[in-house]
Amino acid sequence: MIFSTINKKGGVGKTAFSFSIAKDLDLFLQSNDSSIIESIYPDKAKISTHPPLIDHCIYDFGGFIQSGVLEIAKASRAIIIPCTPLYNSLLKTIETIQEMQALKVPLMVLITDYQSLEEREQASSTLQSNFTDLNFFFFKHSKILENSMRKGLSFKELSMQTPLSKIHYKTFITEYQRLLDTLTQGVSQ
Ligand SMILES: Nc1ncnc2c1ncn2[C@@H]1O[C@H](COP(=O)(O)OP(=O)(O)OP(=O)(O)O)[C@@H](O)[C@H]1O
Ligand SMILES: [Mg+2]
Repeated sequence: MIFSTINKKGGVGKTAFSFSIAKDLDLFLQSNDSSIIESIYPDKAKISTHPPLIDHCIYDFGGFIQSGVLEIAKASRAIIIPCTPLYNSLLKTIETIQEMQALKVPLMVLITDYQSLEEREQASSTLQSNFTDLNFFFFKHSKILENSMRKGLSFKELSMQTPLSKIHYKTFITEYQRLLDTLTQGVSQ
């Protein structure tokens, strides 16, 4: 089971989502971009300029999309594309989707870090008017991303920590679980 998280735009949550999905699905995590993953996910996370293609792995690809990245993206069961509602993020996401569509791999677009329903709708309708066949998931602005990376816990682990956190992160986790279920659907591990 291989997944790739890609967006040319920085700061959209690629690393945070990749790390959490890796932990919750018990996958290796590889990245071509610097981050703290090797210290918060010891033995299972690795950063290198050209990550090798291995099974049971999620790839966190930042920045420029080289040929090695395309090869791994093509071998993926799904490509995860986080996108924030900022104008520049939408533009870069459209560029990213254009490049990824040619690979014929299911695309999971995460509309994330939005503050209002209006912002969420604007972002998803902009992308929908440019493309068909995208799968959308919605993650409102939440401290869970920052806390997850800081504590080295997945979103699910973090929400299970106390009864209060379970209530606090309920909407986020319900949508996150829908994402995990969609990613793993019909796959025997
Ligand atoms: N739902 C959300 N709630 C809060 N912050 C979010 C959310 N979604 C995305 N973010 C953003 O996630 C960013 C940090 O995430 P992360 O480092 O994983 O991004 P990245 O795409 O990997 O960036 P880079 O390309 O620099 O590696 C923060 O800047 C924050 O704005
Ligand atoms: Mg990153």
